Amino acid sequence: MEDMTFVLFGATGDLAQRKLFPALYNLYIDGKLPNNISIVGLGRSESSNEDFQSKVEHSLHAFSRRAVQPSSLQGFLSKFRYCAFDATHEESYRHLHELIESRENELDIPGNRVFYLSVAPSLVEVITSNLHTSGISQPEGWKRLIVEKPFGSDLESSQQLNMKLSKTFNEEEIYRIDHYLGKPMVQNLETLVLANPALESLLDHKQIANVQITASETVGVEGRAGYYDKAGAIRDMVQNHLLQLVMMTAIYLPKKITAEEIRAKKMEIIESIRPIPKENVYQNVVRGQYESGEILKAPVVGYKDEPGVHESSKNDTYFAARLYIDNPAWDGIPFYIRTGKRLKQKSTRIVFEFKNKLDESDGEGITPNLLILEISPNESISLQVNMKDLSSNRFEPVCINFSTNSKGQPEAYELLLFDAMLGNAAFFAHWKEVELSWKWIQPILEAFQEDLLPLASYSAGSNGPEEANQLLLSDQFKWW
Ligand code: BG6
Repeated sequence: MEDMTFVLFGATGDLAQRKLFPALYNLYIDGKLPNNISIVGLGRSESSNEDFQSKVEHSLHAFSRRAVQPSSLQGFLSKFRYCAFDATHEESYRHLHELIESRENELDIPGNRVFYLSVAPSLVEVITSNLHTSGISQPEGWKRLIVEKPFGSDLESSQQLNMKLSKTFNEEEIYRIDHYLGKPMVQNLETLVLANPALESLLDHKQIANVQITASETVGVEGRAGYYDKAGAIRDMVQNHLLQLVMMTAIYLPKKITAEEIRAKKMEIIESIRPIPKENVYQNVVRGQYESGEILKAPVVGYKDEPGVHESSKNDTYFAARLYIDNPAWDGIPFYIRTGKRLKQKSTRIVFEFKNKLDESDGEGITPNLLILEISPNESISLQVNMKDLSSNRFEPVCINFSTNSKGQPEAYELLLFDAMLGNAAFFAHWKEVELSWKWIQPILEAFQEDLLPLASYSAGSNGPEEANQLLLSDQFKWW
């Protein structure tokens, strides 16, 4: 890997502490960082390099997946420098520029620069335009921009944001992070069929009755009400993570193709998701909000009583939808997607339900065959089949389970940071994917805003609103 400078905007924030420093550290101990890398952390408060390095160390002790090794710690920390920074101040960019250049000279780094923006969306534009005017983003080598979600808050704002970013960075230089694309099981989806001829016939679409994608969480708003009460599940989870999972699930790749071709295929998929016109949203989408309840036997308050949430908030903490992909492969096969906070369990999974040739009249207890891909918190692939219990003469579902050894697997941010530093954009969202996702979401957002569908309620700790069950029941299916 080429030597480079890695500039982290938002280095005193939560994401940096919990994910980015530990990811960089684990890459370092695996020998996956460049020999010479200068890491510059930026934050609003004043701090010395030493204090900043000890904050980095603290985050490793708290959040690294592997224990901190005393022998590697100093070498790692010595790569970090801190720069107090005000995104709207020209002076700040001058200081930053000087620091970057002096470290490049010191370490003999050939002007390759990565800019990681882990900042409030409102700062993205001002930072990128100042990077340009200050000359920081015109290095002698290459430059890359890594940007966190949310990428806009609707179709128009995302288009504007992209237009502004593209004044400083080309599409090939922009790495839009969707951390779901860094999850090992999601990365495995591209080779699922390719590497498993047995699954190729199993996943032949003619056999599939429906596909279900679930991302359920037990956590609530976790002190992020300021953001979440405006975003809702639809912007926080659906526009990005769930639609990326739909694309990754639907690509079906029996032959090896390049990273660019994968991205092109994903774009074809998102482009062929049938639009849901605003007037029909109520027939295909369920939005919900949690009431008080119990999570793991502990009482929790309802959404409206969460600190920072408006008492009459109609924000969605739950979202479910039925969608169709209008291409020959998936013609007529419904995809059901759902996500929610304060649900019974933490689980992200994809379930393929197979067509059932038999029903209860052929044998008591018959259930459809399922192929279940658990993405997190555990990774596994299981196949649910029917076996007859000869003592009761009933069919019982039996699960053949292949659990992967997720211990020791790199975390999403490790894989994504490594790819971005290498210049491999396969698991980052292309602008077209983002734009088309917003296009699909937009009428639903408008239906929410105009109150064209009711806000269902569900108890914290439940499986979500009853209306979401009805959505599948109307097609004679149920959630798995
Ligand atoms: C983030 C959302 O993108 O993903 C959070 O902003 C959500 O609200 C999180 O909790 C879920 O990620 P994971 O990896 O825990 O499924």
